[in-house]
Parts: sequence; C-alpha cells; structure tokens
Amino acid sequence: MLSSAISVLALAATASAHIVISYPGWRGNNLVTNETFPYGMQWSYPCGGTPVTGNRTYWPTTGGAIAFQPGWFQGHATAFVYVNMGFGTDGPDGGPANMSFPMIHPFQILGPSKNPYPGTVCLTQVPLPNNVTVQPGDNATIQVVELAVHGAALYSCVDITFLEPGDERIAEVNATNCYNSTDIGVADIYTITTRESGSDEYRVSAAHPAISLPGLSASLLGWLPLIGAGIWAVL
Ligand SMILES: *[C@@H]1O[C@H](CO)[C@@H](O)[C@H](O)[C@H]1NC(C)=O
Ligand SMILES: *[C@@H]1O[C@H](CO)[C@@H](O)[C@H](O)[C@H]1NC(C)=O
Ligand SMILES: *[C@@H]1O[C@H](CO)[C@@H](O)[C@H](O)[C@H]1NC(C)=O
Ligand SMILES: *[C@@H]1O[C@H](CO)[C@@H](O)[C@H](O)[C@H]1NC(C)=O
Ligand SMILES: *[C@@H]1O[C@H](CO)[C@@H](O)[C@H](O)[C@H]1NC(C)=O
Ligand SMILES: *[C@@H]1O[C@H](CO)[C@@H](O)[C@H](O)[C@H]1NC(C)=O
Ligand SMILES: *[C@@H]1O[C@H](CO)[C@@H](O)[C@H](O)[C@H]1NC(C)=O
Repeated sequence: MLSSAISVLALAATASAHIVISYPGWRGNNLVTNETFPYGMQWSYPCGGTPVTGNRTYWPTTGGAIAFQPGWFQGHATAFVYVNMGFGTDGPDGGPANMSFPMIHPFQILGPSKNPYPGTVCLTQVPLPNNVTVQPGDNATIQVVELAVHGAALYSCVDITFLEPGDERIAEVNATNCYNSTDIGVADIYTITTRESGSDEYRVSAAHPAISLPGLSASLLGWLPLIGAGIWAVL
C-alpha cells in the first residue's frame, strides 16, 4: 500500500495535478501525459480519458464511502471537489451518457502548500443522488471532479455494481483505506446572491456594502458588488 502510494507520488510530481480514487476503486491509472493526451489524461471529460471498465467494484445501494487522494498540485494549493454519479451505458465511452447527478454539495480542499502533496480525503457516507433509487445488480459510475483554481477540471471515475449494504463482496471500509490526512483541510463553499434573475435590485450584505456613486450607470454599478461576491466566494 505504502509503496504503491509512493510510486504514484513519483509519477505525480512530474505532472500539474491529479486525483486518485482510493476507495471503492478506480477505472485505472490516468496520471498520463503523452501524444494522445498532450495536456494530461485527467483533464478529459467525463472520466479523465479512461473508458468504461468491465471489472466493476461493488458499492452499497444505500450509498457508502468514497476516498480519494486529491492530488499533488504544482501551483494550486486549493481546489473544489465534486462527486457525481452517472447511469447507463449509452455514452461514447461505453459508460453513462452523462455524469449529471450530484451526490454531494461541492466543497473546497485546502492543501498544505503549492507543491505536490500526498494525502487522502475520506467521505464516509456519500448518499445516492437526490430522488434516485437503485436495485442490487444495477450498474453506475462514480465521478470525482477536482476543479483547479484556474477553472479547469480533473476527472477520475470508478465503475460500480450496487449490492445490498453488508454484502461481503463490498470491500471493507477502514482506517487504512478511508481516512482524512491532517495536511488537507476542507472548507465549505457558498455563494451570496447579489442580484436575483429578473430583478434590477442589488442586495446589500456585510461583505460588500452598497456603494452609491452618483452618475454611474446601473449596468456599470452592477459590476462592483459582483466582483466583491466573487472574491467572497473564493475566500
Ligand atoms: C480494473 O482493471 C484496471 C486495469 O487492470 C485497474 O487499473 C483498475 O484498478 C481495476 N479497477 C478495479 C475497480 O478493480
Ligand atoms: C497514452 O496513454 C493512454 C493511456 O495509457 C493510452 O491509451 C494511449 O494509447 C497512449 N498514447 C500514446 C500515443 O502512446
Ligand atoms: C453490469 O455490468 C456488468 C459488467 O460490465 C455486466 O456484466 C452486467 O450485465 C451489467 N448489469 C446490468 C444490469 O446492466
Ligand atoms: C443523463 O442521463 C440520464 C440517464 O442516466 C438520462 O435520463 C438523462 O436524460 C441524461 N441527460 C441529458 C441531458 O442527456
Ligand atoms: C425530487 O422529487 C421531488 C418530488 O417529485 C421534487 O419536488 C424535487 O424537485 C426532486 N429533486 C430533484 C433534485 O430532482
Ligand atoms: C481494510 O480493508 C481492506 C479492504 O477494503 C483490507 O484489504 C485491509 O486488510 C483492511 N485493513 C485493516 C487494517 O483491517
Ligand atoms: C473527512 O472530512 C470530511 C469533510 O469534512 C467529512 O465529511 C468526513 O466525515 C471526514 N472523514 C472521516 C473519516 O472522519
């Protein structure tokens, strides 16, 4: 376990960023930059360049654990994390047609530095997407997305087959394969509405008090609180 983590880290150090799904499994190593993927595989939607796999791993029908190594950035100490699910096999890669079913509210990870870093984030009980119910034997794909500070996203997936919770074919979740590294902090992400759709009124909040500048057009004035909101959201 340790040696494989180290060899992955060695690979990682040469690329700009990546994400490894350590539980419940991974479609495969996509920490690759080559002629086919000159920008690096992981930047390709929806699953970082890896097509659907036949060696599915098992996951509970009631949701379960997902652990990942959010990677080793060069130049990016933080990122937003999304976890989604897709269903069916109608997609161009033989997997789901889309990965448009969010499983969590996105959150931010706070790395220790701008340099590549190891470490794991463990979400102990990720639910199924809203309004989705599944049967044992159904197939799906879990996608972990890491949105870098510049807005581009890294993708990794694992193909799963659902089983009743407690089925012995589901790999045990324990402190070895699912833990939070102290080095990686987390932060909530939220937004503050500055102006509702269909409204011309800008809201006032403590973060960016209304600025009254006589003579400025409403459309120009509109940019000021928006910039404030953007900074607030990133902080
Ligand atoms: C499936 O096989 C690939 C290729 O051998 C491997 O990299 C991957 O980890 C396997 N996935 C699972 C979930 O076992
Ligand atoms: C690049 O790596 C991917 C994944 O291993 C592989 O499928 C592809 O054939 C490689 N491309 C070249 C040009 O070697
Ligand atoms: C789920 O995937 C496995 C392996 O790819 C396949 O053998 C099985 O028929 C699929 N099950 C369903 C319900 O589509
Ligand atoms: C996404 O995939 C689901 C099936 O899993 C399908 O019902 C839905 O129509 C798809 N959405 C779009 C926008 O293609
Ligand atoms: C879930 O279903 C309820 C009832 O049909 C509906 O009101 C709600 O909008 C749905 N939620 C999502 C995220 O689709
Ligand atoms: C943790 O669970 C994995 C299977 O997911 C197993 O291989 C490993 O031996 C377990 N570790 C401990 C310390 O129980
Ligand atoms: C790890 O941190 C996440 C995010 O704060 C939290 O949801 C999860 O429960 C933690 N995992 C463990 C094993 O404590």
